[in-house]
Amino acid sequence: MIISAATDYRQAAKRRIPPFLFHYADGGAYAEHTLRRNVEDLGEIGLRQRVLKDMSSLSLETELFGESMAMPVALAPVGLTGMYARRGEVQAARAAAGKGIPFTLSTVSVCPIHEVASAVDRPIWFQLYVLKDRGFMKHVLERAKAAGVKTLVFTVDMPVPGARYRDAHSGMSGKHGGIRRMLQAATRPRWAWDVGIHGRPHDLGNVSDYRGQPTELEDYIAWLGNNFDPSISWKDLEWIREFWGGPMIIKGILDPEDARDAVRFGADGIVVSNHGGRQLDGVPSSARALPAIADAVKGDLAILADSGVRNGLDVVRMVAMGADSVLLGRAFIYALATAGEAGVAHLLELIDKEMRVAMTLTGARTIADLGPDSLVTEARLR
Ligand code: FNR
Repeated sequence: MIISAATDYRQAAKRRIPPFLFHYADGGAYAEHTLRRNVEDLGEIGLRQRVLKDMSSLSLETELFGESMAMPVALAPVGLTGMYARRGEVQAARAAAGKGIPFTLSTVSVCPIHEVASAVDRPIWFQLYVLKDRGFMKHVLERAKAAGVKTLVFTVDMPVPGARYRDAHSGMSGKHGGIRRMLQAATRPRWAWDVGIHGRPHDLGNVSDYRGQPTELEDYIAWLGNNFDPSISWKDLEWIREFWGGPMIIKGILDPEDARDAVRFGADGIVVSNHGGRQLDGVPSSARALPAIADAVKGDLAILADSGVRNGLDVVRMVAMGADSVLLGRAFIYALATAGEAGVAHLLELIDKEMRVAMTLTGARTIADLGPDSLVTEARLR
């Protein structure tokens, strides 16, 4: 059954890359209820069909923090992107820049900030995790500033890594796990050649000078657990905001109370997210969480949303529910793993087309035209 390009790319990626890498991207926490609901709940959001409104001209363009975007989509930070294609972060960032949308570089990327930032002609966004060593965090932020990054995405829903059973089964995590081991056992020669695992070592580029970094990414998951800081609170974020100076987006908000705290803190934006179902299983899908959060804070800061977005129709649904922009996680990783930069560029083109069809049929000429009024509500059906 073909549901979307992302679904097709998922199948192709599964054949192409080693199982431990496929499951690292594809899997979620515990029994993966939230992971599934992210996709299912979003698919249930109904749009109104409107007709005969002269939809001959239509624009997907929007703006965030003074930055123009060809459509309300950005690529989400995904750790180890550079394991899915050779210098994978650079390839994905090029595809994003080519389409006119932002790319977000993860703290735990393979390619370092300066390599990715200098490969594209629009500023990339940088995502920061809370590391125990605050001095090192400053150091990373300084590097991001020096590379021309303006927008900081600060991820707050991972004080500890979620329990991901697939990683334990695949050998990605656990006592006998570790990426080096997995690489040695890699059974996908074409992938190994393309990614170049026999050439340049796969460091975590941004933390390669961090004390205690895993050698060649060995025990990556355990390393995350040892170095992320569960003591973090809103108060700790203050120095980061002062130090950074530019737009700061808090990623991992799922509750209206936390969204209001983000406004009080003075954040420029939030990402409504459950980390793609990778952290606490059983929490609501983003599709369910977003409307109440939009009611609470729409207009006070920028609202971004992710988790479960697989096609252009999903983007339109999120925007209609109150998102100013949407992040793509797994969707672009599947495309990157299958066909590199060209795969991601193709996926973004399809999303553009799908958005245009959906907006035409729902009577929205611009992104600003999409809102609660575009949605079918129970009341309207009666
Ligand atoms: C992630 N995500 C993530 N988020 C973040 O802030 N920093 C990171 O390093 C990572 N790493 C990461 C790795 C992998 C393999 C995945 C799938 C996800 C979460 C990501 O930014 C985003 O919130 C989700 O991927 C959104 O859900 P979908 O689009 O994958 O359903």
